[in-house]
Amino acid sequence: MHDDIEAVLLSEAAIHRRLDELARRITADYDDGQPLSVVALLNGSIPFLADLLRRIPLPLRVESLRVSSYQGRASRGTVRFHEPALPEVCGRRVLLVDDILDTGETLRAVQERFTAEAGASDLRTCVLLRKERQIPPRAQADYVAFSIPDRFVVGYGLDCDGLYRNLPYIGVLREERAP
Ligand code: IMP
Ligand code: MG
Repeated sequence: MHDDIEAVLLSEAAIHRRLDELARRITADYDDGQPLSVVALLNGSIPFLADLLRRIPLPLRVESLRVSSYQGRASRGTVRFHEPALPEVCGRRVLLVDDILDTGETLRAVQERFTAEAGASDLRTCVLLRKERQIPPRAQADYVAFSIPDRFVVGYGLDCDGLYRNLPYIGVLREERAP
C-alpha cells in the first residue's frame, strides 16, 4: 500500500468484481441494437471508463468532456468546462460517466448543459462512487458502482491535486497529505 494511504476502501479485485455486475446491467438496459454514446468526464473517470467499456459488448461511441470542480480537498462549488463545446450527440442516447458523485454540482451542471444544448434522445448517468453525505446531492445517478462514507478518497482515477490517479485501488488519503 502507498505510504500516503490510511486505508484501502476498495481493493482492485472488489472494483473489478463490481464492474462485471454493473456492466451486465448496463448492457441489458441498452441492448436493443441502437448505438450508445458514452461521455466520460475527464480526468477522474479514465480508469473506470476503460474497465467498464471493455465489459459492454454493445455498439457504442466514446466521447469526453473535461470538467473540474475541485481544488485539492475542497469543492470550489463552481464547475468549470475546459472546452467550449459539448460532444456531438444530437439524437443519440447518452450515458455520462464520472468518477464520483459528491455534492452533485458537477453532474448537475453537465446534465443541465446537455439538456439545454445537446439534443440527446436519452440522458443517463453512471458513477463509480457515491458519497453518503448528510446533505442530499444536487444530482442523481442512474448507475452507481459503490456507495462510500464521506471521506476524501484517491486512486483508480481519483486525485488530490492531480496525484494518485494511477493507484489500482481506492483508498482514504492521510490527513497530513492534504495540499
Ligand atoms: P461534486 O461536484 O461535488 O459532486 O464533485 C464531483 C467531483 O469532485 C468529482 O468528479 C471529483 O473530481 C471530485 N471529488 C469529489 N470527492 C472527491 C474525493 O473524495 N476524492 C477526489 N476527488 C473528489
Ligand atoms: Mg472529477
